[in-house]
Amino acid sequence: MAMRISNKILNGLIQQANRELSNSNAYLSMSLWFQDRELPGSAQWCKTQSDEERMHGLKIFDHIVKRRAKGALVHAIGQQKFSYDDPLQIWEKALEQEQLNSVAIMDLVRQAREEGDYTTDTFLQWYVAEQLNEETSVKDILENAKRVAATTGLYVTFDSQITRKPH
Ligand SMILES: [Fe+2]
Repeated sequence: MAMRISNKILNGLIQQANRELSNSNAYLSMSLWFQDRELPGSAQWCKTQSDEERMHGLKIFDHIVKRRAKGALVHAIGQQKFSYDDPLQIWEKALEQEQLNSVAIMDLVRQAREEGDYTTDTFLQWYVAEQLNEETSVKDILENAKRVAATTGLYVTFDSQITRKPH
């Protein structure tokens, strides 16, 4: 029975995989924005984060395949607008993206439990734990960035330290 999966949960997992890939693209665009402005530390952090989000998406597709479910496709999600005014706006956007992702994962866990699909529930627990790390990391960077933004020019110094921050 572990392989059994309802259409509703399957669609939820496919949507979540696509959301992770879309978040991966968003972090890549953030990385390029930092790269263009000679802020290599922040660019590197966002690029690594982009790789991680891609891995999160692929892990869900692997899980779907393992359960022999059909219909998993990579979808383009909406028309994303990638333009940022300053580093603060990027980190605010990143935090918002992580918070929305956490809500989506929790919703999926709730649905899985309602259906008695404990296989999906267990699979998603890794994502629940990971979201706590991601929200904490981005929030920490945002708080730091807010403080340095108050002093003109200081972001460059902060940028050189950012690669040591966890993901
Ligand atoms: Fe993720």
